[in-house]
Amino acid sequence: MEMGRPAGSNGTRRSKVRVREQLAKAFLIGGLAAILASAIIVWAVGGFNSAPQLTEAQEDGKAYYGQNCASCHEENQLQLKKIPPNLHGLFNRSKLPSGAPATDAEVHNVILKGKNTMPSFDQRLSDEQVRYIVAYLHTGIR
Ligand code: HEC
Repeated sequence: MEMGRPAGSNGTRRSKVRVREQLAKAFLIGGLAAILASAIIVWAVGGFNSAPQLTEAQEDGKAYYGQNCASCHEENQLQLKKIPPNLHGLFNRSKLPSGAPATDAEVHNVILKGKNTMPSFDQRLSDEQVRYIVAYLHTGIR
């Protein structure tokens, strides 16, 4: 029963229905906006955590790594006598796969001089390019 209005009035019922529809719509839009906003926040935070931006040097190093190193160190169908070691997280350990200390200087040296079946890059990469690759290896390789 409506307060202050005759029961069963058509006009009242229709406007009540309209108000209810508008309320439902407002709730629906509000709810969708909230879901969308939380999805964006989760995506932004999650994305930031899993893939922090690379610095310019690391970006360059990534490109050089792709051109010069990935063919051996990211593939595993090579006919090399010794399987190239996995370089992901190289600097998380104190030693390189060979047992040499995992320092920038040592890795820089391996790249320039080569090691056993790994070719030397002193004719192909500049000192600076090698430094960028080392910077990229420090990211753990993402
Ligand atoms: C032709 C294949 C090949 C290419 C190209 C290559 N590597 Fe290697 N790499 C190897 C092999 C094989 C080893 C293992 C050497 C050994 O210990 O006998 C190795 C070892 C390494 C090691 C570990 C050294 C140690 O002391 O344990 C590092 C670091 C490395 N490579 C970095 C690189 C980087 C950076 C590039 C690109 C500039 C590169 N490699 C290009 C085959 C390759």
